[in-house]
Amino acid sequence: MKQDASLTGRALKMAADEIIVTKTDLDGRIKYGNRTFYKFAGYSEADCIGTQHNIIRHPDMPRSVFKLFWDTLKSGEEIFAYVNNRSKNGDHYWVLAHVSPSRNTSGEVVGYHSNRRAPNERVLSDVIEPLYDKLLQAERSVASPKEGLAAGAKAIDDLLSENKATFNQFIFSLGV
Ligand SMILES: Cc1cc2nc3c(=O)[nH]c(=O)nc-3n(C[C@H](O)[C@H](O)[C@H](O)COP(=O)(O)O)c2cc1C
Repeated sequence: MKQDASLTGRALKMAADEIIVTKTDLDGRIKYGNRTFYKFAGYSEADCIGTQHNIIRHPDMPRSVFKLFWDTLKSGEEIFAYVNNRSKNGDHYWVLAHVSPSRNTSGEVVGYHSNRRAPNERVLSDVIEPLYDKLLQAERSVASPKEGLAAGAKAIDDLLSENKATFNQFIFSLGV
């Protein structure tokens, strides 16, 4: 689904031995990115440090996935999620992300960190892309952004109830 004229439609692929790493503050502002992050994002370190992580948000990522993502992190838990990212030049790249709260020695959450690997292409095409299309349709089928977010969140809840799984269990049930 190509919504944005600035997108090229070209998919970049992570190699099996690559890991994209970033660390953020509590508000999701980037504090660190490894070289592989800058390679795929197409931005410089100067562009990114102190900037919101949505600098690489892809317009076709469902908002309800990011709601679940942040609700999970704010509850102190980790999350695994397939994420489509937008490079600076409009290319895109899918990743399987593990995102987790970063704690200090007293156990307080002081920020977040994420490691991403190449996604399983079969899971991506057979499950995740159709699922995210369905979530986007649910989000766009109602009048207001607020209702859209609720509709997307309900579609995720229904999926997890059908599968009798948490979101992370569902992701792992797909295989890696
Ligand atoms: C550690 C960490 C890593 C993140 N990584 C990404 C990412 O790779 N891509 C992305 O679009 N959002 C990422 N986010 C989420 C963004 O902060 C943001 O919620 C998301 O891009 C949705 O943007 P929006 O709220 O402006 O729609 C990350 C957040 C954290 C805390």
